[in-house]
Amino acid sequence: MTPQDGGKEMMGSVRWAFRCGSWTPSRSDWLLAARCIQREEKDRIGQFVFAKDAKSAMAGRLLLRKFICEKMGIPWSEIRLGRSPRGKPFLATPQKQVGSDSGQAWSFNLSHQGDYAVLAADQGVQVGVDIMKTTMPGSSSVPEFFRIMTRQFTAYEWRIIQSAGSELQQLAAFYRHWALKESFIKAIGTGLGFNLQRVEFHLSPEPLVPGSVLRHTKMHLDEEQEDDWIFEESLLDADHHVSVALGPAGISGCTALPSSLPPPASFTRLSSSELLASASPLTDEDPAYWEGFKTKAEAPQRQRDTHMST
Ligand SMILES: CC(C)(COP(=O)(O)OP(=O)(O)OC[C@H]1O[C@@H](n2cnc3c(N)ncnc32)[C@H](O)[C@@H]1OP(=O)(O)O)[C@@H](O)C(=O)NCCC(=O)NCCS
Repeated sequence: MTPQDGGKEMMGSVRWAFRCGSWTPSRSDWLLAARCIQREEKDRIGQFVFAKDAKSAMAGRLLLRKFICEKMGIPWSEIRLGRSPRGKPFLATPQKQVGSDSGQAWSFNLSHQGDYAVLAADQGVQVGVDIMKTTMPGSSSVPEFFRIMTRQFTAYEWRIIQSAGSELQQLAAFYRHWALKESFIKAIGTGLGFNLQRVEFHLSPEPLVPGSVLRHTKMHLDEEQEDDWIFEESLLDADHHVSVALGPAGISGCTALPSSLPPPASFTRLSSSELLASASPLTDEDPAYWEGFKTKAEAPQRQRDTHMST
C-alpha cells in the first residue's frame, strides 16, 4: 500500500466506556473478573484502599483484554500485557496481530477517572485518551485551586479558562483543557516529566455538547500549530470530558491525516456482562480476594462529600 492509498484503507476505531461508578459487582462477578486478568494486575488492584479505585482499575484491565481479544482476534488466554518504563500498557505477546481487518497496527490507551473507565483504540495512528470529571475542589476555593495549578497551563489557556463564566463553567473549562493535555501526554507515553507549558490548546469554536464529537481543537507545540495531531473531544455526560489524541504512528512517518481516519464516533457504553463477555479465566478462584474487596470503603469521605456538592 502506498501513502496515497491511506484514505481508502479500512481503518479500525474503538471507543468504549464503562460506568464503573455504578458497578456493584457480586461475589461471583468480582472473583471471575479477578481470575481473568494477569496475576500482577490482580495483586495491584487488591492493594487499593478504596473500592472505587479497585473497580475502575479492574474495568480498565477488562476493557483492554476485551479489545485485544475481540478486535485484534487474539484469544484471551494468549494475551500478555506489559507496561512501558513509564507505565503505558502495550501488548507484549503475541506480537503478531492475527485477525485484524487490515495490516495497520493498532494503538490503544485507557483512562479511568470520575465515574467511568474508557478505552480508545485506532489503527495506523498513536492514541492517548483521558477522561476528567468536573468536580469542585475538595479543600480550597476555586481561585486558590487554580493558583495551585498555575504551572499546568499557559497564560493564554488560563485566560480562556477564567473567562468561561461561573465557577462551575470555569472548572469545566479547566478539566476540558486538562483532558486535552493529558491525552497528548498519554499518546506519546511520557507521563510525568513533560513540560506542560510546551503544549497549548486552542479550543474549537463550536460548543461541546453531550452526544457530539468535536475534532477542531488545535494543539500548539513549542508555539507552532501541530496539524499532524487531532483531538477528538466529547462529553460522556454533563460532567465527564473525554479527549482522544491521535498522532503520527512512531517512526514510520505515517501521519494522522483526517482523510485517513474513520469519522469520529461517540463512546459506546458497555454493560458489566459485555465487559466480561469474551473473558476466560487465567488463574484459580481466590475467595480471599472477595473478602478483601468487600471490606473496602467506596471512596474517601471528602470525595463523597465533594461529589454530593456538584
Ligand atoms: C500516568 C499518567 C500519564 C496518567 O495518569 P492519570 O491521568 O492519573 O490516569 P488515567 O486514568 O488517565 O490513566 C491511567 C491509565 O493510563 C495508562 N497509563 C499509565 N501510564 C501511562 C503512560 N505513561 N502513558 C500512557 N498511558 C499510561 C494505564 O493504563 C493507566 O491505567 P492502569 O494503570 O490501571 O492500567 C499520569 O500519571 C501523568 O504522569 N500525568 C502527567 C502529569 C500531569 O501533571 N498532568 C497534568 C495535565 S494538565
